Amino acid sequence: MSENKKLIFSGIQPTGTFTLGNYLGAVKNWGPLQDEYDCVYSIVDLHAITVRQDPVKLRQNSMQAYALLQACGLDPKKSILFFQSHNKCHAELSWVLSCTTQFGELTRMTQFKDKSAKHADNINAGLFTYPVLMAADILAYNADLVPIGIDQKQHLELARNIAQRFNQRYGEFFTLPEPYIPKAGAKIMSLQEPTKKMSKSDENPNACILILDDKDTIIRKFKRAVTDSEAEVRYAEGKDGINNLMTIYSAVTGKTMDEIEAEFFGKGYGDFKLAVGEAVADHLEPVRSEFSRLINDKAYLKECYVDGAQRAERITQRILTKVYRKVGFVDAK
Ligand code: TYM
Repeated sequence: MSENKKLIFSGIQPTGTFTLGNYLGAVKNWGPLQDEYDCVYSIVDLHAITVRQDPVKLRQNSMQAYALLQACGLDPKKSILFFQSHNKCHAELSWVLSCTTQFGELTRMTQFKDKSAKHADNINAGLFTYPVLMAADILAYNADLVPIGIDQKQHLELARNIAQRFNQRYGEFFTLPEPYIPKAGAKIMSLQEPTKKMSKSDENPNACILILDDKDTIIRKFKRAVTDSEAEVRYAEGKDGINNLMTIYSAVTGKTMDEIEAEFFGKGYGDFKLAVGEAVADHLEPVRSEFSRLINDKAYLKECYVDGAQRAERITQRILTKVYRKVGFVDAK
């Protein structure tokens, strides 16, 4: 880590294979940042247990997620790639920050409201304080930038408020992190209900593209995507399904909306859906093949995540020690 480069932190939950939403909204954009910034990317397993997890599956999904990060272009030599639970500073800082976070602020978090409606039988305290842990993830590194999709923006704003309040109470210390949200792909919608975010927890498997889906599956899911009763590939209000497909096509091909409209002028939705499916499948092919190579090399992965956690802890321990001193704890050494 260098003194003059800005620091990036982001995380992803290991709750299953990444969706196309995770990929286009976040992970795809993480790789290109590695040269310009010091980057820290975490598989946030502590966050994952805020909803019930099968321990065997969680461990498998976590390893898979770690391999996927690398398959998506993250280089463990350039960036710090680690499991959140391997660096104790996250949980420790979270406690301190929870004492500068108000109950009322947490009740306003839309994700808490959504998730508690969805998991009404398990509205645990961790689900409620989840955004404080997320703030700790970011502030433990004094990160400057946080690349995320739109759904995490409210949490990031809370992290800024927590940092600001801490700074007011104890003196300037935390950097106020900025969100880094992509122009195309910040909110990929469900293929079946295009007014809803694409999410791996969707019960309808056709609603969501997983980045390890094979080409046939991807094309089939796109063919079934819900559109509208017109037959014009045009980005316009009320055409949520087509807007979503155009956004996806734009994010994987780099084409603008105008270029896409021109390309499919006079063609039907069938042709368009097939083209989107093929473009996505071809784009993800290298990710899939690199993943199958990496997931079999557990020794290599372990070497990477052990090293990643040590490097992560080195940064955060310094910051945590200063935080403890600022709040008035007696020095341990
Ligand atoms: P998670 O695991 O739900 O999602 C990981 C990233 O994917 C983005 N994303 C999407 N982007 C576009 N369209 C979608 N349909 C879509 N679905 C998900 C998310 O915005 C996110 O960037 N709380 C976070 C994880 C986290 C974190 C952090 C992120 C924990 N600590 C610190 C940044 C910094 C979460 O649950 O993301």
